[in-house]
Order: sequence, then C-alpha cells, then structure tokens
Amino acid sequence: MIEAMMSVETSFFRDWKPFEHFRTVTLPNLLLARKEKQSFRILCCGVSTGQEAYSLALLLRQASELLGACDPQILGVDIADGAVTRAQKGVYSQFEAQSGLPIQMLMSGFEKIGDAQWRIKDILRAGIEFKSWNLLDELYPLGAFDVVFCRNVLTFFDQETKIKVLGRVSRLLSDDGALYLGVSETTASISPNFMPIAPEIGVFGVHRPDRPATQSLAAGAWPPHAQSSAKESA
Ligand SMILES: C[S@@+](CC[C@H](N)C(=O)[O-])C[C@H]1O[C@@H](n2cnc3c(N)ncnc32)[C@H](O)[C@@H]1O
Repeated sequence: MIEAMMSVETSFFRDWKPFEHFRTVTLPNLLLARKEKQSFRILCCGVSTGQEAYSLALLLRQASELLGACDPQILGVDIADGAVTRAQKGVYSQFEAQSGLPIQMLMSGFEKIGDAQWRIKDILRAGIEFKSWNLLDELYPLGAFDVVFCRNVLTFFDQETKIKVLGRVSRLLSDDGALYLGVSETTASISPNFMPIAPEIGVFGVHRPDRPATQSLAAGAWPPHAQSSAKESA
C-alpha cells in the first residue's frame, strides 16, 4: 500500500550535476582528509530501486587511485520493501539502464542477462547494502556517515517531519561531510544544522550552531592534490 502511494521514480545519475560535484569536489577532498582512515561511508536515504547507490559505486570505482587503502561502503535505505528487493537484485531493464548511464559505464559495470536486462557486476555490489528503513524512525542505528544523499525524498514530508528528519541526518554526518538533496530541495528555513555549499544543485554542508565552524570539504577548492604538490615542490 505504501508503495502504491509513493513515487519510487529514479534513474542512474539523476540530474547529473550533483554526481559531478560529488566526483570532482566532495569525494577527492574527503578522501584526502581521511588518508589514514580505511572507512568512507555514504548513506542513500530513499534509495528506491538502487540506481542512485549504484551510480555512486560506479564513480567510486573510477576513483580507485584516490581510494588507496580506503574501503568505501554505501548503505541504501527505503521504506518501500519491493523497491529495496529490486535494489538488492541489481537487475535493470534496457530502458532503465539507458536512462542516465553512459555507455562505457553500462558496458564495464553490468553484464547482460537475456535479451533486454542488465545486472550490476558483483565487484560493484560488494561494498553496497540495502535495507528497508523508515526515515521517520530513529536513524542513529544506521551508524555514522561522511556523505548523505537524501534526494527527492523530503518532498513526501510535511514541514515538521522535514525538520525532524534533517535534524537526525545532521547527527549522522561527520562535521566536514556533505548532504545532497534534490536539485529543487533545500535546508533553508527548515534546519539550522546545514549551510549552503552549492544549493542550486542541492549540496549542503554540516553546520553545528553550538560549535566553532568546520570547513565543509564539499566546498573545498579542487584539485587539492595540485595545491599540496605545488606547496611540497616549492
Ligand atoms: C522519488 S524517489 C527518489 C529516489 C532517489 N533518491 C532519486 O532521487 O532518484 C523517493 C523515494 O523515497 C522513499 N521514501 C518516501 N518516504 C520514505 C520514508 N519515510 N522512509 C524511507 N524512504 C521513504 C520512497 O519509497 C521512494 O523510493
């Protein structure tokens, strides 16, 4: 019944620009800051049938030289059990695969099954878990995260629920972490716990009003490697 009432509409690399921001700014900056750590965790809230999580996995694979010893993990949660089951299977129709996936990524990340279906390769699935979870419940059992995607989900909630959910999401995030909302969604006038980074594409950094400000690495200048190697060689 829940699924019948809700839109689970999604696609690979939906809206593209936030994924480009993640690839070029957030990911390299956060990984650089976590050079000594082995964990890097991303939460996809309202992950639907999984395309958002697999899009991120494809980008992480491309960034393998930045990852070093880091073992990234992606957790996708959704209230719709049927969507979660589909996400776990990682099988998409030709139409779904063609909606947003660059052809090279389709060919390298998926295997064709039958005439018109594509299954995500095991190597990409390895660091991803999908769970049924209601965002209106407590979120702390999910653990701590460096990046949260919560795209095109808040739209289902009234103002009071948005305030509650964004407050809980902010507590899961690292101080320098990033929140990705849908391109037409915002934290403005809803939560004091976030500051705009690239609000026109739904990117926000964590803001703790009760603590000294931390620079969100999603706002960092790119490429940080070039800057540090220039400094080192000076
Ligand atoms: C429009 S889809 C967005 C999918 C994906 N994030 C994207 O942007 O392409 C919204 C998803 O949010 C999920 N959702 C809505 N309310 C939820 C809740 N209370 N807890 C968890 N998921 C929820 C729906 O089941 C649906 O799959």
